[in-house]
Amino acid sequence: MTEETTVALVTGANKGIGYQTARLLGELGHTVLIGARDPEAGRRAESALREGGADARFVPLEVTDAASVRQAAEHVAETFGRLDILVNNAGIVRAPGSDGAAGWAPSQAAVADVRAVFEVNVFGVIAVTNAMLPLLRRAPAARIVHVSSEVGSIGSVTDPDSPLFALTSLGYPASKAALNMVTAMYAKELAGTPIKVNAANPGYCATDLNGNSGFRTAEEGARISVELATLPADGPSGELWGYLWDPSSPVPRNGRLPW
Ligand SMILES: NC(=O)c1ccc[n+]([C@@H]2O[C@H](COP(=O)([O-])OP(=O)(O)OC[C@H]3O[C@@H](n4cnc5c(N)ncnc54)[C@H](OP(=O)(O)O)[C@@H]3O)[C@@H](O)[C@H]2O)c1
Repeated sequence: MTEETTVALVTGANKGIGYQTARLLGELGHTVLIGARDPEAGRRAESALREGGADARFVPLEVTDAASVRQAAEHVAETFGRLDILVNNAGIVRAPGSDGAAGWAPSQAAVADVRAVFEVNVFGVIAVTNAMLPLLRRAPAARIVHVSSEVGSIGSVTDPDSPLFALTSLGYPASKAALNMVTAMYAKELAGTPIKVNAANPGYCATDLNGNSGFRTAEEGARISVELATLPADGPSGELWGYLWDPSSPVPRNGRLPW
């Protein structure tokens, strides 16, 4: 590996926004590590991206499994010695096998379902970030992106003028609000370093997460993660940045969202 080669790890990169993020980072010339919990899906994504010309490499990574996270970090350390970009993209909207209780109103939520969502969307991010931080510190100017959501923006969902005001579900929005705080705290701790930590809002994208009901493409959502993953030295840190759900705007707009 040369000094110029940059290594990026994207969690949940076998499909959806994560796959598109890996594809776009590969197009930019980064060596891109395809974090995936299902080896078959991970290798399939690796092959497809390599066929497209990217230096893509599957790395087994189940973000809720401490041993898997540790092994992934050891693999990156042994193979590359450092990590330049970490995109914590893996996420779920409801507990595996649940009937969606974590997506219902707070009074209907099953604690176990909410906890399962937090395991991936919050605790998984902390586990992966802390495992990779020693490697990120070895890069000249690492970037960390937490893929969050506008539904985790308390400012947006409590704004009567926002299209998100009607939302009353619990688990997923609460997990993304927690992730936003996690982002802010890492950004503060790392403020004296070249590392930048930001949260991305991809907007409502058509992926398996929502039965492909989103009105944006996974690639459009991924572009926001890529932008935050490749910020220049004078770029922001500790922000929630991305798609602004603004029905009054005839063209899609990106910008800073309220926490
Ligand atoms: N789509 C949207 O409208 C939207 C909007 C705002 C934010 N987001 C966020 O964007 C991110 C990507 O979502 P998406 O829409 O692309 O959904 P997706 O197509 O369902 O992809 C989710 C990815 O996360 C992986 N994953 C889930 N649990 C995991 C775990 N425990 N360990 C490792 N990987 C795991 C999945 O792996 P498997 O294939 O093995 O399940 C898959 O690769 C999520 O954080 C989501 O919350 C999405």
